[in-house]
Amino acid sequence: MTDLTGKTALVTGSVQGIGLAIAETLAGAGARIAVHGIAGDAQIEEVCHHLRKKGAADAAFFRGDLRHPTQIQDLMAAVAAWGGADILVNNAGIQHTDWLSKLPSDMWESILSVNLSAAFYTMQAAMPEMANRGYGRVINIASVHGLVASKQKAPYVAAKHGLIGLSKTAALEYASRGDKAKGGVTVNCICPGWTNTAIIEPQIKERMAALGVDREAAVADMLKDKQPSLRGSEPAEIGALALWLCSPVAHNVVGASIPVDGGWTVQ
Ligand SMILES: NC(=O)c1ccc[n+]([C@@H]2O[C@H](COP(=O)([O-])OP(=O)(O)OC[C@H]3O[C@@H](n4cnc5c(N)ncnc54)[C@H](O)[C@@H]3O)[C@@H](O)[C@H]2O)c1
Repeated sequence: MTDLTGKTALVTGSVQGIGLAIAETLAGAGARIAVHGIAGDAQIEEVCHHLRKKGAADAAFFRGDLRHPTQIQDLMAAVAAWGGADILVNNAGIQHTDWLSKLPSDMWESILSVNLSAAFYTMQAAMPEMANRGYGRVINIASVHGLVASKQKAPYVAAKHGLIGLSKTAALEYASRGDKAKGGVTVNCICPGWTNTAIIEPQIKERMAALGVDREAAVADMLKDKQPSLRGSEPAEIGALALWLCSPVAHNVVGASIPVDGGWTVQ
């Protein structure tokens, strides 16, 4: 079992969904968790309490709207003052579906900022110290849409493809840092397909309305379209892979983009 005692993990967007599941898994391995995301005080308190109960050595919330580089710099300075991140999970993301010709420019800017540029700023801040320590893990939550495209997702597909490119470059630049015993410094992407979280709810509702069917039938139709296993993923399954990537045994998994997509991208 991977033991993350003494390690600190910053998981962006960890107040819900996949980010929360990753934070729970890393907490279970004993890491200190820097919680982040957009949430009210009560939810923040509840999440930190929950992660401590799951086994986190500590859990504290760090603020920062990822659309704004100055807020990301403040976020990273606050995490550095808390001891710095040995593990950085760039998970926060947003989605908006519409035809290219209809997408408002502010939506393009927001999706590129949160889903791509934010990872550049957090990695730039956190990775030099990882290199000094000889251990570091950057896990970027990309998507099947970092590997293939779908209609009506131009900014999301562009950002996720960009995130994979950014990750490959960073992986190369840091590949030789650290050693086997410490675990080295690696950068990888996880590329989920349909996963049961809030981000896909608008698409489920759209499909229910378009087909005039209930939720279960709409989800089945979405899976039939793209995901050959016909099964959605649970956030905890992404968490389990993230934990494995954190273990020293994964020291030579460098610059990979790992699909968790029921066969979506092998078609
Ligand atoms: N659920 C899926 O089917 C699926 C598939 C592929 C990839 N992903 C990716 O997984 C990641 C997590 O998404 P999720 O499915 O858990 O969705 P979610 O909507 O439940 O979570 C998104 C998280 O991002 C945070 N966030 C959004 N805007 C932010 C901002 N401006 N500043 C700071 N934080 C912000 C939110 O607080 C939230 O915690 C995203 O990057 C998403 O693109 C999800």
